[in-house]
Amino acid sequence: MKNISCVILAAGEGTRMKSDIPKVLFDICGKTMIEHLLETVKELDFYRVYIVVGYKSELVRQKILQTTVSKKLKNKLIFVLQEKQLGSGDALKLVEKHVSKFEKYLVVLSADVPLVSKETLKELISQHCSNSVECSVLSVFLENPYGYGRILRDDKKKFVSIIEEIDATEQQKLIKEVNTGIYVFSLPNLWGALKQITPNNKKREYYLTDVVKFFSSKQAVVCKNADEVKGVNTKKDLAEIIEILRKKILENLMLSGVTIILPQTVYIDCKTKIQPQTKILQGCVIVGSEIGKNCVIGPYSFISNSEIGDDTEITYSYINQAKIGNKCSIGPFSRIRPYTELSDEVKIGNFVEIKKSKISSGTKINHLSYVGDAEVEENVNIGAGTITCNFDGIRKHKTYIGKNAFIGSNVNLVAPIKIGNNVVIGAGSTVTKDVPKNTLVIARAQEVHKYNHRIIKKLFSG
Ligand code: UD1
Ligand code: CA
Repeated sequence: MKNISCVILAAGEGTRMKSDIPKVLFDICGKTMIEHLLETVKELDFYRVYIVVGYKSELVRQKILQTTVSKKLKNKLIFVLQEKQLGSGDALKLVEKHVSKFEKYLVVLSADVPLVSKETLKELISQHCSNSVECSVLSVFLENPYGYGRILRDDKKKFVSIIEEIDATEQQKLIKEVNTGIYVFSLPNLWGALKQITPNNKKREYYLTDVVKFFSSKQAVVCKNADEVKGVNTKKDLAEIIEILRKKILENLMLSGVTIILPQTVYIDCKTKIQPQTKILQGCVIVGSEIGKNCVIGPYSFISNSEIGDDTEITYSYINQAKIGNKCSIGPFSRIRPYTELSDEVKIGNFVEIKKSKISSGTKINHLSYVGDAEVEENVNIGAGTITCNFDGIRKHKTYIGKNAFIGSNVNLVAPIKIGNNVVIGAGSTVTKDVPKNTLVIARAQEVHKYNHRIIKKLFSG
């Protein structure tokens, strides 16, 4: 699209969010509001993409440039600074000096309407070009139009203008067709029209919506799907738009072959990938993760920024920034902390915490243990209640456990320490020195059994 550019209005403060974070940086199922919009914009191959920034502009600019989608749009992105937020009309005016003669059309998007689809935008652009109008507004019918600008049409249903909620009469407020905040304008006519708008309204702002009045050829094109043009002004809107996207993400996963039990209780973000034939049980939260096929996850598990192989089961557990292999079994009630790597067929059982450790194939840590800063080789059995004492009060130290070692219940391994292959450690031992391979270690006070005169006397006297 050589002669069509896009403008994203993102300068507003978002006062109604009552937050220090600029509105466009709020997260919606794993991506910021502006990132969602840029993903769609990228698909449309515009000549240029202008982003009007204002409130906390430097922060917004930096966050946008950090996203992967910005890298793909790198040569097209132009940031335009609106120093004072005088209104959406004023914001668009500032783009004029950046636009070249080649650009014949501008698609204008509101950064707080992030879920609009590329198909809807394509349709609006195509209707704008084929009907040769100066201005096209995307409208939608809403059961509850409160807060949106209303579309005013004449007796012949011809689009006339837009009136904002705050300035509308009671009669106009009954209108259910609203402005989505998405427009296509023909250039250069737009610039002349924008010069004519004034801040004569209750908000004392230059409304972009007022520009419509100054065009003789214009249309309002109705969008069929209200979900994709929902605007976010308050935290309540934010929750509603997250819910719209959450449902869509789950629907797509189910259509791709993932089983989701009680989807209304499951939250999966848009960065997560799950292979078919995996089953997600109720109450799971999965973000930024990749999960293989034939897994069973849940019920009630939290998985964040982790990789899970195939055929793995995770029950009632918390996993963060970890890599888990194939055919592992985790939980119930395990906590796997960052930088942990589990190879295949590892078993981590109830009330076990693993931190920054590498656990090799076939190893079992089944009950009530803490394993931190450790490297555990293949086929090791770690008994209930075993602790790697990795912290001396100042520094963290490593524990190494060789192949086939058998660590009895309630053992303390005081790091730094190396336990060789095939070592057996007796239950209740506190081991402080390296143990060579094939050794049996018992490190606990000798058990003493003595005849108890007092008790025996009391029990059997008289
Ligand atoms: C706007 C429309 C309204 C429409 C609704 C759809 C206007 C006057 N009204 O209302 O008709 O129904 O969107 O969601 O446009 N912005 C700037 N600079 C500013 C002011 C705003 O860049 O000085 C940006 C905002 O960041 C936002 C967009 O313009 O992305 C719309 O502004 P907002 O204040 O959210 O307008 P609404 O009241 O939602
Ligand atoms: Ca808005």
